[in-house]
This record gives sequence, structure tokens and C-alpha cells, in this order.
Amino acid sequence: MTLAVCPGSFDPITLGHVDVIRRSAALMDEVIVGVAHNHKKSHRFTAEQRAQLARAALADIPNVRVAVIDGLLADFCQEVGAQTIIKGLRGTADFDNEQTMALLNRHLSGVETLFMLGDPGLNHISSSFVKDIAGHGGPIEDLVPPGVARALQSLAPGENR
Ligand code: PNS
Repeated sequence: MTLAVCPGSFDPITLGHVDVIRRSAALMDEVIVGVAHNHKKSHRFTAEQRAQLARAALADIPNVRVAVIDGLLADFCQEVGAQTIIKGLRGTADFDNEQTMALLNRHLSGVETLFMLGDPGLNHISSSFVKDIAGHGGPIEDLVPPGVARALQSLAPGENR
């Protein structure tokens, strides 16, 4: 059985993430979306809130489930028996960061990372800009799943920056 982990901070999940996860699920028997902590970022939503938003956004894909990763991604992959990590790439800026993490994860646990190119029509979408736009009251409905748009729009203006 092929099992991959699609990890990320998903703060919040965007249509770009959903596209990469959907295409990963078409290649694998099962995909676990791993909602993790990125030490370089301060997260707007708690890990459980991010996981709930992802679950709602991915509910129509039967072979995808969502889990919170409390520790190292490499340890999580070993615990669940995943052979592969799949990460989406929007461009070279993403690659520079991802290359280091992919090599470290292989060093830590032997798990291989595969990169999937993001859909060119969605490559401009990032969680941080979505939060910025929402914080200024701008339209985000074409950038994120409906539940995420509602969650961001329900935050007080200052909470969204
Ligand atoms: O969506 P992001 O922020 O690019 O995802 C990065 C993430 C969360 C996958 C990465 O920070 C991560 O793997 N965090 C879990 C802790 C861990 O394993 N750190 C070592 C990475 S080499």
C-alpha cells in the first residue's frame, strides 16, 4: 500500500494546498495531511483549528485524512509507516527552503520527499497573503475553501494580521 504524508503548517489551508493534496491522493492509496508547527512562523489558528479547516476542505476525497503532528515530521512518518512526503512547489523560493528540509528528513528517518509543481493558476496563493488580504477586509473567496473564508472573516480585524 502506498502511503504519503502531505505536511505543512496550513495556517490556513488554501486552494493551492487542496489542489496538490487532491493530485497526491490520485497517485497514492492513502494520503495523510499532517498539520505541523513551523518554528519560523507564528500561527493564526491553533493546530486543531487548522486541522478542522483542512478536514472540511478535503472531506470529498475518500483516501485523505488529516492529523496533527506534535513532534518531528520524520518521526511521524515512521510512526504511520509512510514511505513518502509530498510537498507542493510554487517556484524557486519554495525550493530553496524545501530542499534543506527534504534532505534533513531523509537524514533523520530515511523518508523520501517528492515535489509536485503547483497549478500555475494557483501559484500566486499563499496563506500569509490570504491572511493579510482578509485582515484588510479584502476578498478571499477565490483563494481559499469556503470554510476557511468564513473562519478568517469571523476574526476581528486586528487578529487577522
Ligand atoms: O507549510 P510550511 O510552513 O512550509 O510547512 C513546514 C513544516 C510544518 C512541514 C515544517 O516546519 C515541519 O516539518 N515541522 C514539523 C517539525 C519538524 O519536523 N521540523 C524539522 C524539519 S526538517
